[in-house]
Amino acid sequence: MRKLAITLLIALMPSTLLASGSGLELKPANVDLSDKASMQRGAGYFINYCQGCHSLQFMRLNRVASDLGIPEDVAKAEMMLGDAKIGEPMLNTIPEDQAKSWFGVAPPDLSLTARLRGDDWIYNYLISFYKDPSAPSGWNNTIFENAAMPHVLANLQGVQELDHETHELKLVSKGSKADEYDQIAHDITAFLSYVGEPVKAKRQFYGIFVMIFLLVFFVLAYALKKEYWRDVH
Ligand code: HEC
Repeated sequence: MRKLAITLLIALMPSTLLASGSGLELKPANVDLSDKASMQRGAGYFINYCQGCHSLQFMRLNRVASDLGIPEDVAKAEMMLGDAKIGEPMLNTIPEDQAKSWFGVAPPDLSLTARLRGDDWIYNYLISFYKDPSAPSGWNNTIFENAAMPHVLANLQGVQELDHETHELKLVSKGSKADEYDQIAHDITAFLSYVGEPVKAKRQFYGIFVMIFLLVFFVLAYALKKEYWRDVH
């Protein structure tokens, strides 16, 4: 029985918990998939600051609009890159071979990154860029060492430097939204978390009903078992 309980517990554990082990402490992203305003802002930042390089090939803008409560005409007017159509996958605009020659690696598709890396990882990645003159892009990252990606949000956050002794990051010059930057990183993370599993918010909602049903069912089954065995004893 105990073995079974432990096996069940492991099976139910979020995969990101099991996959941790980089040794780095990650600050919690605390993504709230019912906070549509946050995911809407995140979508806006993603389209303006990320989609040039990164595609979301498993996501379409009309799905984003309807899931996050963005009117379709607003999405069409403000959220479409180049000559994209609202029902098409959200592709990047940079040709892959060009990206490769610039960065050494092509920017990966981010559709499933939240599921592979976890929300906490993405959030911490976005707040951990620092200036590194020895890196090809001039930037480095404490979460993803020698990442080929430059700090594309530096004009919002500002510039951080790494103290090599304490291993802490210090903001040495403020960007235009330095005070809001933490929220911005949260919003983008929330959006990518939603993209990784668009039905998760609904599933969490139904999950509560399923748990209640199981509980009621368990009580009934237990009562039945007692009733059944009473005559046997
Ligand atoms: C100028 C191009 C460019 C832009 C713009 C850009 N990235 Fe990147 N990004 C890259 C490249 C290149 C990599 C690959 C880094 C590596 O593997 O060394 C990368 C990697 C990543 C990764 C890690 C993926 C993984 O699992 O390895 C994440 C997450 C990410 N970017 C998020 C973002 C977000 C969020 C934005 C917008 C705020 C953004 N990127 C904007 C070029 C870009």
